[in-house]
Amino acid sequence: MFSRRTSWELSENPLSLALAERKALGQGVLDLTESNPTRAGVGYPVEAILAGFSDARNLVYLPESKGLLHAREAVAAYFKVRGNQVPVERLILTASTSESYSFLFRLLADPHDRVLLPVPSYPLFAYLADINDVEPAYYQLDFDGLSWNIDLDSIEAAARKGRVKAVILVSPNNPTGSAIKPEELKALNVLCLRYGMAIISDEVFSDYLFGTAKERYISLASNTEVLSFSLGGLSKALALPQMKLGWIAANGPADVLSEALARLDVITDTYLSVNTPVQNACAGWLTMAGEIQQGVLRRVKGNLEFLTQSAEKAEVFLYPVDGGWYAVLRAELGMPEDEWAVALLKDGGVYVHPGFYFDFPAEGHIVLSLLPQPEIFEAGVDRLLAFLKS
Ligand SMILES: Cc1ncc(COP(=O)(O)O)c(C=O)c1O
Repeated sequence: MFSRRTSWELSENPLSLALAERKALGQGVLDLTESNPTRAGVGYPVEAILAGFSDARNLVYLPESKGLLHAREAVAAYFKVRGNQVPVERLILTASTSESYSFLFRLLADPHDRVLLPVPSYPLFAYLADINDVEPAYYQLDFDGLSWNIDLDSIEAAARKGRVKAVILVSPNNPTGSAIKPEELKALNVLCLRYGMAIISDEVFSDYLFGTAKERYISLASNTEVLSFSLGGLSKALALPQMKLGWIAANGPADVLSEALARLDVITDTYLSVNTPVQNACAGWLTMAGEIQQGVLRRVKGNLEFLTQSAEKAEVFLYPVDGGWYAVLRAELGMPEDEWAVALLKDGGVYVHPGFYFDFPAEGHIVLSLLPQPEIFEAGVDRLLAFLKS
């Protein structure tokens, strides 16, 4: 009865089962995977956010395919503050970044065409590809001892096999925290032109860059060389995932860009998925970006600092992080990652994600969210490191 594209393995894995069992028994869990900002107690300007809904314009429906003009103007202003000039005609609003991916896959790929995804990366991609009938192909991010680098040869090797319509960048990446470098973008543009590939750049974490990574950061919203789509949204920019507002900023050579925008217009017009109250509120909300992001940055930087010091003391390797909400440890676990994560949960009451969820190429990776409340994070990290030692 059902489509092949939905024939997923739906049973719970041993780690989820162990978590459910622990919770059912009323045993506490130090959750180091918590990445829902609305549960992390980062502090929001509550009154001001709620005031955004009291807008008489919410009673009027204006079906605008790319999103309401004043909302797109607010997003253009957000880009401008970050040094990117994005005219409203090149901005498209969506109901989330995940939806942006779906629309772009529909725009670019026929069934069984391929999109190139980074590994390690975020596990949702495989599902987004399945749902949209595109085949995921992969390129590597390699760690050279100092930073993560895009393995351009693996992009070219995949592109040579044909039918690759887009390369996906996640910058900063989830979970490696690495951002694209200028020389990588230059080389990627050459490959994309050679093989007719577009670039989809997921920049949802670009407001959370640490140290010098902030000055070095490049958004693909300014990439004119190749058809490029820069994705962002309120889920990370304002730590408000429940508001369901994402955006696509398109750029590239004029002819292909205008064709892409015209076709996207039909896709968005077919769904008109972005609700009116959020579009009316977003200009006001975006003026609070600095305040909200400061709160989140304080949290992730504070937790990262604690983790850095603790890992150093325990002689456990912590990958350097350019930005984002995650950190990755590498250690000798003495057993497969999934068994280790279950043992840590059962014996130590600490919940972490094993690296294989994100397709790390080798065993021994542990992925932590940097969002949990400091008391939970610090107690969890202490127990995790003690467990590693034992
Ligand atoms: C890299 C990355 N892109 C996109 C998303 C999804 O964003 P949205 O809530 O806007 O769909 C996430 C969610 O965690 C993410 O980590």
